Amino acid sequence: MNFRSHVLGCGGYLPERIVTNDEIAKTLDTSDAWIVQRTGIRQRHIAADGELTSDLAVKAAERALTAARLEGGDIDLLVLATATPDNTFPATATKVQARIGMTGGAAFDVHAVCTGFIYALAVADNFLKCGQARRALVIGAETFSRILDWTDRGTCVLFGDGAGALVLEAKATNGHAGAGSGSNMEGGVLSTHLHSDGGNYGILYVDGGPSLNGHVGHLRMEGKEVFRLAVERLAAVVDEALAANGLIAADIDWLVPHQANKRIIDSMGRRLGLPAEKVVMTIDHHANTSAASVPLALAEATADGRIKPGQLVLVEAMGGGVTWGAGLVRW
Ligand code: ACO
Repeated sequence: MNFRSHVLGCGGYLPERIVTNDEIAKTLDTSDAWIVQRTGIRQRHIAADGELTSDLAVKAAERALTAARLEGGDIDLLVLATATPDNTFPATATKVQARIGMTGGAAFDVHAVCTGFIYALAVADNFLKCGQARRALVIGAETFSRILDWTDRGTCVLFGDGAGALVLEAKATNGHAGAGSGSNMEGGVLSTHLHSDGGNYGILYVDGGPSLNGHVGHLRMEGKEVFRLAVERLAAVVDEALAANGLIAADIDWLVPHQANKRIIDSMGRRLGLPAEKVVMTIDHHANTSAASVPLALAEATADGRIKPGQLVLVEAMGGGVTWGAGLVRW
């Protein structure tokens, strides 16, 4: 039997504390005008002291489970995307597993920085399609505020903390599993497309790590080069996803992109010929929450009724590694 991964529910969680651009500008040589004009960011949520990535992930997971009318015990696969785990090991996913009452199955982290959620979605989708799991929780959760150099105006203004989660269930399909086969009108994840290029490892990285120097380290980025690659690589992977399913840009109901920079998102929307109303934009109030940004945007746009059952949703992201990817989901 062939299976397809159907979306049962999603949820998001943001820490209570909001930090505006003006607040950052009190201690750093920057301004609200510069940040808004170059990035589209107006504010970000920052985790409280002692509030960990796992705490954000648990809250998002509980909301996604409620939306799916399920409990932790109904889940047999938990894939958590994060670049800011609670501890170097064990995987943050195992802590979340215990706290949501998931008593069996497997829980592990995947790490692809801002592309993490797309990677986690692809991993879970493949487990469900091949029958190795029945119901999956896919989570993106980050506390990037802990790895920022708050004296570096070129990076610290860009990021925020948060978590988002999606519940997927394997359902038998009439068609064949895999990209480009089966009906693209049938519900569920149509396909996912992942890429990485380790030749660009050094344009976006953290200058610490257990093996490197035993420190947590701070995020370092060549912003202009990341920007250039993002526009180029995201365009290619979106074309790949559409072609694999016999679809065209006009078929897309919602573009839910990684929220790194409004200018990157606008350029993708223009390239696809999508009006702004079809692009879910959260960067102004969330900033870049790395692996959490796509599921947080999905949670917002389903909760407010924008994304409806049967609609075609395109997700895409690019991040450190560099990694990039896209997925098409019939909601
Ligand atoms: N406030 C005021 N001035 C600033 C700030 C700031 N916060 N940051 C940089 N500047 C200054 C620079 O110092 C520079 O000044 P100079 O000309 O006197 O040297 C000037 O602004 C221009 O700096 P650039 O870096 O060239 O600015 P740019 O227009 O490229 O914008 C930005 C920088 C916003 C970082 C942009 O390059 C960008 O968004 N890049 C992509 C970032 C991204 O997507 N990151 C996430 C990737 S996903 C992940 O995995 C994390």
